[in-house]
Amino acid sequence: MGGGLLITGANGMLGSELRSLAAPRREVICTDIAEMDVTDLAAVREVFAANRPSVVVHGGALTDVDGCETDPDRAFRVNALGTRNVALAAAEQGAPVLYVSTDYVFDGRATRPYVEFDPVGPRSVYGASKLAGERFVRELAAGRFWIVRTQWVYGFRGKNFVDTILAAARAGKPLRVVDDQIGCPTWARDLARGVLAIIDQDPGYGTYHCSSRGSCSWFAFAGEILRMAGVAPVSLEPMPSSELDRAAPRPAYSVLRNYMLEQTIGDLMPPWQEALAGYLAAGGDG
Ligand SMILES: NC(=O)c1ccc[n+]([C@@H]2O[C@H](COP(=O)([O-])OP(=O)(O)OC[C@H]3O[C@@H](n4cnc5c(N)ncnc54)[C@H](OP(=O)(O)O)[C@@H]3O)[C@@H](O)[C@H]2O)c1
Repeated sequence: MGGGLLITGANGMLGSELRSLAAPRREVICTDIAEMDVTDLAAVREVFAANRPSVVVHGGALTDVDGCETDPDRAFRVNALGTRNVALAAAEQGAPVLYVSTDYVFDGRATRPYVEFDPVGPRSVYGASKLAGERFVRELAAGRFWIVRTQWVYGFRGKNFVDTILAAARAGKPLRVVDDQIGCPTWARDLARGVLAIIDQDPGYGTYHCSSRGSCSWFAFAGEILRMAGVAPVSLEPMPSSELDRAAPRPAYSVLRNYMLEQTIGDLMPPWQEALAGYLAAGGDG
């Protein structure tokens, strides 16, 4: 095998954690849209041929869920065709691909955590475009792939719920937060650790859920963020998601259970409260 670990979306929340966790141990080839736009197959092939990666983590995506809803062509171009291009180029170089996918592939009508065998049924363009990416990976990655679904990711790069809540509370704004969507907040650093564990310990190719453990509503998450950070808001009240005028529907219930990790290398993901404490201690919103 040739080079090292090639990351797409390396400037994103997950990518930036991955690059710093992986770099001391192995050669890392970082790419984001400026170095390699995944929608351009020729460019993707050129970068892969030049670097000959031994393994690929494909995290590059359009993650603006409402933006995807209003521009489906672009969403599918990046999330579906971009993933096709990465899967094709990886197969041509003989490198396995780890594709990061999402709880939005499910319809959100479950009453217990989703496992990897549950039927999919995305309700948003984002979810459908990521699912199309999963299908391309299954078809084109020459059988050498891991599909890793996660959810409610927050981290140091970009806008995230934790920082938004803390900033609003510190600015003295009254807070109203959705209490009818249930999921599990996942720190990008824990996800990066999970991704590297899957690559290094190879529990077998296939689909894995990898989110923090437990579940909560956004409202409960906000309450815990404020409590842990020791910030008292002017007010914190629950609200129904119907009051938010958003382009894309969100799954009402989309808790993921890391069943396949449990059955193989063990579920290394922490409970969401522990992860949140880690993020705040590491300087989240600091
Ligand atoms: N965030 C979540 O809650 C969540 C939940 C479940 C699954 N995921 C999945 O996890 C992965 C990582 O997400 P994240 O939260 O780290 O997202 P992120 O912070 O938005 O990072 C994604 C990166 O991909 C880049 N990108 C966009 N279009 C690209 C293109 N055409 N070619 C190459 N790179 C491109 C983005 O650049 P720009 O910033 O310039 O667009 C960004 O740097 C994604 O595949 C996402 O679908 C995320």
